[in-house]
Amino acid sequence: MNDSRLPRDFVAKHVSGLPRSGIRDFFGMVSTREGVISLSIGEPDFVTPWHIREAAIYALEHGATSYTSNLGLLRLRRAIGDYARRSYGLTYSPQDEVLITVGVSEALDLAIRAVVEPGDEVIYHEPCYVSYSPVIKLAFGTPVGVSTQRAHGFRLRPQDLAAVITPKSKVLLLNFPTNPTGAVLTRADLDGIAALAREHDLLVISDEVYSELTYDAERVSIAALPGMRERTIFLNGLSKAWAMTGFRMGFACAPPPLIEAMMKIHQYSMLCAPILSQEASVEALRNGDADVAEMREAYNDRRHYIHTALNAMGLPCHLPGGAFYVFPYIGGTGMSSHDFSMRLLEEENVACVPGTAFGPSGEGYLRCSYATAMDEIKEAMVRMQRFMGRLSA
Ligand SMILES: Cc1ncc(COP(=O)(O)O)c(C=O)c1O
Repeated sequence: MNDSRLPRDFVAKHVSGLPRSGIRDFFGMVSTREGVISLSIGEPDFVTPWHIREAAIYALEHGATSYTSNLGLLRLRRAIGDYARRSYGLTYSPQDEVLITVGVSEALDLAIRAVVEPGDEVIYHEPCYVSYSPVIKLAFGTPVGVSTQRAHGFRLRPQDLAAVITPKSKVLLLNFPTNPTGAVLTRADLDGIAALAREHDLLVISDEVYSELTYDAERVSIAALPGMRERTIFLNGLSKAWAMTGFRMGFACAPPPLIEAMMKIHQYSMLCAPILSQEASVEALRNGDADVAEMREAYNDRRHYIHTALNAMGLPCHLPGGAFYVFPYIGGTGMSSHDFSMRLLEEENVACVPGTAFGPSGEGYLRCSYATAMDEIKEAMVRMQRFMGRLSA
């Protein structure tokens, strides 16, 4: 549609056709209110651990104000190589198999743009992170969402994946643990998915930004399964587990031709990730394990608390195996996700994101983040319980 404030409709059609992020609209509404307890934010309530911040300050004081290599600081790429080995048993060469990016967001965009040609189908599981479908569309790919169900803990089952594979399928985009459901996969799921990827010659882009926040299950990357390293782009970053969202640090690990292709786009768009964030990330990956463990423990306590409280008030939800979200079913109230979250906000000043912000299969659900202080979570549960009580009265 032409905007009358412009002399001509300058915005490209494939951009004007993109929907606005439902999360952004919701935050807009939340920010106009006072006294809101927000369970809507997908970022840690912790401040970045001090020694990591100090590493950035130290680097700045010592004049680290330049560009780095396009791939990123070699010291950081080495730290990432060591991290991938100790955490997943994955071996990547810091020389040509690791690319440092501006958050996983950039890594995801580069990965998709590097491999998708017009009309290629990119399969992803839904409900999912808000950017997946738009990023695929911006690369002129065709997004193919596979809906996942509460009955299966929102895991992607190999049989559901098999049902949507066509000759045009090129990429499978995975995100486990999942935003917004907290789902994790079993090893059997991963084996089945990997077998399909090999059989149908798919490239897997695995967004594992929440993998450090896996609570009970074994942490396995699909890239570590037989025959998968050469067909997987492993994405990870420091935003969530190290509480470093503002540093904007992500990375991609993959065989050299894929990293080279991603690097070409990166060098002409971003050039390199910010040097101070890279310096801080060296410290985080070398000396941050204890901080990650401490924050994971805090999330774990909150996870159990909120899961129990929501189920007790009649909002059934599975125990999320990872990330910092629970995804209760609110369909039993007869309200849509949108109406439920709006009324909850208006009547009780509690903000939770409607499940539909994460795709149509999120209808009937809410995303509640427990990256929020325990006291606030407790008060939010009191308010939600009161709200539910009124609904059933
Ligand atoms: C699944 C998923 N991938 C990627 C991102 C983006 O992370 P980053 O801060 O590293 O860009 C997020 C942020 O919420 C996310 O939930």
